[in-house]
Amino acid sequence: MMNDDIQKISVSEDEIKHIVERLGTQISKDYQGRNPLFIGLLKGCIPFMSDLLKYVDIDCTLEYMKVSSYDGTKSTGVVTVKGGLPIVKDREVILIDDILDTGRTLDAVRKMLVEAGAKSVTICVLLDKPEGRKVDITPAYVGGLVPNEFVVGYGLDYNEHYRNLPYIGVLKEKVYSK
Ligand code: XMP
Repeated sequence: MMNDDIQKISVSEDEIKHIVERLGTQISKDYQGRNPLFIGLLKGCIPFMSDLLKYVDIDCTLEYMKVSSYDGTKSTGVVTVKGGLPIVKDREVILIDDILDTGRTLDAVRKMLVEAGAKSVTICVLLDKPEGRKVDITPAYVGGLVPNEFVVGYGLDYNEHYRNLPYIGVLKEKVYSK
């Protein structure tokens, strides 16, 4: 059943299932014997990372980071980490996020992890919005591409709502103008 605030589904539940299976299988092949460290960016990574890991059948460890590029409601362009960095020295890191848009968040986090001694940092996102890109960053693993419109669901939120939807969709105009 589609939520009444959604005007169209961009990525269905079934498509998401195939995406996570494909990405998890690929990562397992690529990282066989390398004991990668998955780092998820909260909160958007939660459903994606949880489903992806079901298909990762290699030895690995998990961490999470809470980052923010907002000060109140205004984007500062400065990415801050809440609660410190995980220990990444000499680790092969796979950074997990819901969506790559301007690329500023993941680019800043990637640089921090490299500076903290990570051996490698690879990016894995469920969705890529290439039209939004403001910095030069290429994810190694991408579930799917979306056009330049605001999407919610499966971890993605509008004012913290809709993260629980099992699919990804575009909000109706009336929701923004409330
Ligand atoms: P960058 O730094 O790549 O930021 O611009 C990525 C973060 O921005 C948020 N974002 C979205 N959230 N629907 C959302 O719910 C969207 O269409 C969208 N585009 C960007 C998101 O938090 C992501 O982690």
